[in-house]
Amino acid sequence: MIKTIEDLQLKDKRVFMRLDFNVPLKDGAVADDTRIREALPTIKYAMEKGAKLILASHLGRPEGCDMKFSLEPVAKHLSGLLGVDVLLTDDCVGDGIQMITKHLKSAQVILLENLRFHPEEEKNDLEFSRELASLAEVYVTDAFGTAHRKHASTYGVPSLMPVRGCGYLINKELKFLGRLLDNPEHPYVAILGGSKVGEKIKTIENLYLQVDTVLIGGAMGNTFRVAAGGYTLPPAAKKPKPEELGHCKQLIQKALRHEVKLLLPVDDLEGFDIGAKTIELFTAEIRKAKTIFWNGPVGMFEKPEYAKGTMAVAHAMAENKGALKIIGGGDSVSAVNVAGVGPQMDHLSTGGGASLEFLEGAGLPGIQVLDSFSKGSS
Ligand code: 3PG
Repeated sequence: MIKTIEDLQLKDKRVFMRLDFNVPLKDGAVADDTRIREALPTIKYAMEKGAKLILASHLGRPEGCDMKFSLEPVAKHLSGLLGVDVLLTDDCVGDGIQMITKHLKSAQVILLENLRFHPEEEKNDLEFSRELASLAEVYVTDAFGTAHRKHASTYGVPSLMPVRGCGYLINKELKFLGRLLDNPEHPYVAILGGSKVGEKIKTIENLYLQVDTVLIGGAMGNTFRVAAGGYTLPPAAKKPKPEELGHCKQLIQKALRHEVKLLLPVDDLEGFDIGAKTIELFTAEIRKAKTIFWNGPVGMFEKPEYAKGTMAVAHAMAENKGALKIIGGGDSVSAVNVAGVGPQMDHLSTGGGASLEFLEGAGLPGIQVLDSFSKGSS
């Protein structure tokens, strides 16, 4: 059983809270604070209960300690949202940090500097996990966006801390994304775009067990079309790698075996957006659906001349009032926000990679480790 933050005794306890504050920055400030805002209910609950809060996150993919990836802008932004001081420590481990955490007061909040300044974080190094675990008495995670990573702060630390649980954001993500795996209403349509087909193979294979229709767009749509044969890429479009073509061929075959309707673009704008006929084809499927999952824009929507397809998908979803509509993180969340239809969706996931891995059906390490049957539980 996985405990939630409400099951844990927090008063006067030092709480190590892993969050996903991997947010976009612009000119030294937070450019999109969705992930920070989504973590606020859990942070505020812990403060109200009198916890001594040690927040931790990664930011970007730094190679060692690179101050370009400092969490400073996040600490500043969070402090503004909470209306309290949020001290950013200069590291996440070491004697100084031990000292600061020992002297924390009830409801005080500190943020540890970027965990990935230490390569041990991504290696799930035991000694590093021990150091982080020694800072606190209770472990709470609400880092859904990073729950697919088996890193020290997401996996090693909770394995060493028997008093552990998840926050409100993870609960919400599991509630909505879980509905896609557990008897979804039909017709169920999945829309997949973006570029890297290699990362999505397992998800697509598992989706085939549930969905009626898969719509493929974006650069991935080009790769599928080349794999299906009879399509020549426009000169400016990126050439797919041979292994990607191999994956797509297999996925086309598997769709046939599973009797899944796999719809590829039938026309395009220079390979950077789906064309008018494809918009017609895709939106007709979206209008009929009772369950819709969308991950990855169907065109390069950040350029207005190639945004039409992605905007059409977003609006068609918003207009289908009767369907369960879930957006799987990252660029597709930005796309629905640009289209101004975010509030019409049932759920905007804070995890792109994590929501895709969740739909593979094998569970996410950062959530499985919380289970009371897993190692380290009391
Ligand atoms: C994300 O933005 O997808 C998460 O924060 C995980 O980041 P990562 O892909 O660098 O591990």
